[in-house]
Amino acid sequence: MKSSFLSSKKFLAFAIILLGVYLNWRWRKPGIPPNLLGNRVDFYPEFIDKEVQQELLEIMKGLKVFPASFQGSQFNTTTYEHIGEAEPFDPEKGCTNPYLIPNAARTLCTLPTRFDFLRNWMIYGGIDGLKENFDMLATRIQSFGQYIFNIQDYPVMMEKLFFSEKFIKAAKKICPSEKQVLDPYSFHFVIQIPGQALPIHIDSQYMEDASRFHYPAWLPTIMAASGLYQDKLIEQVQGVLYLHEWNDTDIGGHFAMYTRDDNTPDYEIPYPRGVGLVDGSRTMHASTVFKPNAYLPILPKDAENELVYQEEGDIWELQSDEKVLNRYKTNEFRITLVYRSRCFASEEKRQSFRESHKSGKNVRPIEIVLDELKSALISRFGYTKEELDAMPRLQLANVLANRFLNYPRPVNAIIPFNYCALPVIMPWTDIFFKLIC
Ligand SMILES: [Fe+2]
Repeated sequence: MKSSFLSSKKFLAFAIILLGVYLNWRWRKPGIPPNLLGNRVDFYPEFIDKEVQQELLEIMKGLKVFPASFQGSQFNTTTYEHIGEAEPFDPEKGCTNPYLIPNAARTLCTLPTRFDFLRNWMIYGGIDGLKENFDMLATRIQSFGQYIFNIQDYPVMMEKLFFSEKFIKAAKKICPSEKQVLDPYSFHFVIQIPGQALPIHIDSQYMEDASRFHYPAWLPTIMAASGLYQDKLIEQVQGVLYLHEWNDTDIGGHFAMYTRDDNTPDYEIPYPRGVGLVDGSRTMHASTVFKPNAYLPILPKDAENELVYQEEGDIWELQSDEKVLNRYKTNEFRITLVYRSRCFASEEKRQSFRESHKSGKNVRPIEIVLDELKSALISRFGYTKEELDAMPRLQLANVLANRFLNYPRPVNAIIPFNYCALPVIMPWTDIFFKLIC
């Protein structure tokens, strides 16, 4: 009995390795959309001084509560919250469909706002090729953030970052040469606790008539990747500024960017006070696991997970549905401040975008956008209109992501896919994968 158990385990391991070798050969090139390749990335060490760094850290502490990135959309002006995949939220059971999460109002279960990169993360385990179950992988990417759009209320941001001569000069190198009018619009603190990582992704897109303020954020991203809306895209430049104070190069958390159609990225070490400048909506990027061996408490996907700053003791509490799971000091985090400007050809274009974007007057019905994408699926990939029209919307979202937005796969993994997450879609495999995961 025991020997047949051992031999089935050996057989399973052997079959997985064989499949891994084959897939590594098949997937040498990820097939990143051509319009997302070859864009400029620059890194500037010691971009700010220690005084500004401290001032920014104090602003961050003053914001006090940092929700985990899964907590629905923080942008409640979304005109269309989903494409038809939503199910009612059950206050007792939460979202029973494993692909859906509660929306911000906790009334509906919808696709995560950026399910396009989440699926890649679960299937391949990120740059590090992690082999972990769904709950651990979902926890690793629930970084904690706060978006600030009233940037004018923060003089240090305006004077030392957005309007500093140094930033303007560097930012204009990232914007296209014919679009040199900068439009600063937001900054965003991102805190990663030990054990967390950033999945490979591109940032949310802005188009003349579409953004995450009008559609679920994954849709404009797929629209941009499809290449159908090139003339409507608005390029951006973002500074990724490292605010933590540690200087250790051996604890991971390295920034990775993909400028070539290759599974191997270029890396940047997150030195404190340094800044990377990139158009994150046109260059895929990620970070490796930060402190990979650290204890990381599981954060359930349907719970309200947040980091809360306690002035008394200068300490941060990790809370899940108000229960304290862990406590951290600020210098235990990987902290970035991401600040963004859009690029325009003229001041008039900048003004007219700001007005139309705010009013939402040019936003087209979501069904029209879906019809355009479906037409491209038909002409490029041989689908029929009937099958696409009859397809459940959750499946349609997956087809769109699969066909238009390929993300890279792990580069150093013998087995390039995360078999440990397979039981999520095939529960019957749980009995096998419990043996090796
Ligand atoms: Fe990003």
